[in-house]
Amino acid sequence: MRKPIIAGNWKMFKTRDEALYFILKVSTMMPDIDKVDSVILAQSPLMRDLVKRQGENLRIGAQNLYYEDEGAFTGEVSGQLLASYNVDYVVIGHSERRNIFGETDQEVNKKIKAALKHNILPILCVGEHLEERENLQTNQVLSTQITAALDGISKEQMANIVIAYEPIWAIGTGKTATSDMADESCGFIRDLVKTLYDDIVSDTIRIQYGGSVKPENIDELLSKPNIDGALIGGASLDPDKFIYMANAALKRVE
Ligand code: PGA
Repeated sequence: MRKPIIAGNWKMFKTRDEALYFILKVSTMMPDIDKVDSVILAQSPLMRDLVKRQGENLRIGAQNLYYEDEGAFTGEVSGQLLASYNVDYVVIGHSERRNIFGETDQEVNKKIKAALKHNILPILCVGEHLEERENLQTNQVLSTQITAALDGISKEQMANIVIAYEPIWAIGTGKTATSDMADESCGFIRDLVKTLYDDIVSDTIRIQYGGSVKPENIDELLSKPNIDGALIGGASLDPDKFIYMANAALKRVE
């Protein structure tokens, strides 16, 4: 049985005060961490304050890192620094990073390796554009992104990676992939992982769905066999909605 993982991707939202208010409100309401991983992914300057207040059942993550440990890379944040704040997770290769900031599959691969080196669990995001889905290229896109991102990652390291399937056309648009569509693509990813590794890695890798997940659709999405959790943008900004969604995952395991 794979432990569900519910992660709120705050993107570039929330001031320090708003973030602290949120964490104080939700941290005691999260399901037991032995049963569900609940994570908030925030802007890097908030790491120290949030990790300090995460409590027993919530964990904090960053939304990006740079793959070098130090150097003349003005404006970047290193895995080494994040690790010193006891950050547990980092999102790698979010479509906004790929599309707005031009991040390539090769950079995604280096960033995953940097996160693993510092014992930060990477959430690897993959997903297709609408045009690619319409042209029946979804599987090809997922295959290219995942094969490149996992290049040189060992079977043992795969135990510390989460994959998030996020169709770009469903992010922030209110259009959710139907639960069957999401499950089918997550299933394709699971089969691909089997081809790249083996049955055990494929059975144990956790695959989230992301794209307009909210309290109204999370139960249905989580009922699908290949979906092990959700990466949630907009709806994760509201503490009550986040509490509901983390606890929806608990229902799946009980
Ligand atoms: P959304 O964002 O839930 O607002 O669609 C998801 C994401 O970008 O991770």
